[in-house]
Amino acid sequence: MDSILVTGNGPLSGDIPIAGAKNACLTLMPATLLSEEPLTLTNAPRLSDIRTMTVLLQSLGAEVTALQDGKVLAMSSHGLTTQRADYDIVRKMRASILVLGPLLARFGHAEVSLPGGCAIGARPVDLHLKAMEALGAEMDLRDGYVHAKAPAGGLRGGIIEFPFASVGATENALLAATLAKGTTEIRNAAREPEIVDLAQCLRKMGAQIEGEGSSTITIQGVERLGGATHRVVTDRIELGTYMLAPAVCGGEVTCLGGTISLVESFCEKLDAAGISVEETEKGLTVARRTDRVKAVNVTTEPFPGFPTDLQAQMMALLCTADGSSVLEEKIFENRFMHAPELTRMGARIDVHGGTATVHGVERLKGAPVMATDLRASVSLILAGLAAEGETVVSRVYHLDRGYENVEDKLSAVGAKIERIQGQ
Ligand code: UD1
Repeated sequence: MDSILVTGNGPLSGDIPIAGAKNACLTLMPATLLSEEPLTLTNAPRLSDIRTMTVLLQSLGAEVTALQDGKVLAMSSHGLTTQRADYDIVRKMRASILVLGPLLARFGHAEVSLPGGCAIGARPVDLHLKAMEALGAEMDLRDGYVHAKAPAGGLRGGIIEFPFASVGATENALLAATLAKGTTEIRNAAREPEIVDLAQCLRKMGAQIEGEGSSTITIQGVERLGGATHRVVTDRIELGTYMLAPAVCGGEVTCLGGTISLVESFCEKLDAAGISVEETEKGLTVARRTDRVKAVNVTTEPFPGFPTDLQAQMMALLCTADGSSVLEEKIFENRFMHAPELTRMGARIDVHGGTATVHGVERLKGAPVMATDLRASVSLILAGLAAEGETVVSRVYHLDRGYENVEDKLSAVGAKIERIQGQ
């Protein structure tokens, strides 16, 4: 297993290109299952999660070809061979459940293994299943699989009312409703930019959708969908992560392709901490000119609130803030596994249930640490950039699920970071 060696050093300067969004790509790829005609995605990120979705779609008989070094995904589902998504692939990635809606909508039945994924709490899929039921499907859980069956004549439009906003369940509902007969209304829908991106792509394929980006999405089902070419939206989590690099160790970095609208609530917290963010034609320029950042309180919320996927990285920044910060995690239980690792580097953090209080220290010290999930792993790298001495982050396979070329991107702006193979 690879590890990453980070040596804390001075200020950073330069440009970091931001890739297409992993989470958008993972919901856009299953959209190919809705149509016989080709769907091509450009600006795709080159990540192991995208390769896992590729293997899953191929196992269903879809053609998925990675072009231009993986930045373009040419897909076609004209000759699917099965509607069963096997445990062996699904267990590797929770987003695999997103094939359920499209398969059910186009073929009237699907069998999808219950997923695994990051170890950040229970993460059930009950809302995905309830959404399919609201469209008339019968759902049966047997042998670790969801067996879904549409009524004769296919899924029927209906009202899907979520008790709270779920990104994945909204995406599954949206995908399925495009081919359901009649009108579907998704109430309490998630509003994330990845959902807006999915709706825009589905519309290019011929779907009739209104209201994406608000809490109510209305879909008028159509007979069939066609092909499309779509550019994957910028990854707001990768963007926020690299914006934190100059914030933790000083300097000025421009994140190419970034816009404030993708990370507005995050920018408000950076501003409160004393970090400046400026939007230009190129992207977002982030600078830290003060000696120490100020403590700020952060509560994670669904979009447009502060993203849970940036909580661990923000904690890395606040470890060396002047004062105490309170971080409240409202989306996932058990998402502070990075806290004990940061403590190994000299951070002072008290965790009580869903709340972590970070008492800022002057400086962190490098240490061997272990990545526990995707976002936790990159928070340890950020902490290492600011720490005195060497930090070795092990178990970086989590990192490769969500960040392409992290070492290259950070080295290019002056960070001392390298990958150690096979440790
Ligand atoms: C997506 C993102 C993930 C991000 C999360 C929240 C992808 C591939 N992943 O995950 O990076 O952290 O949004 O922004 O896009 N829940 C249920 N039942 C369900 C579904 C969800 O109880 O059927 C709960 C979850 O346990 C969690 C909350 O709802 O507490 C929100 O989860 P959800 O928005 O569904 O997250 P994901 O779509 O899994």
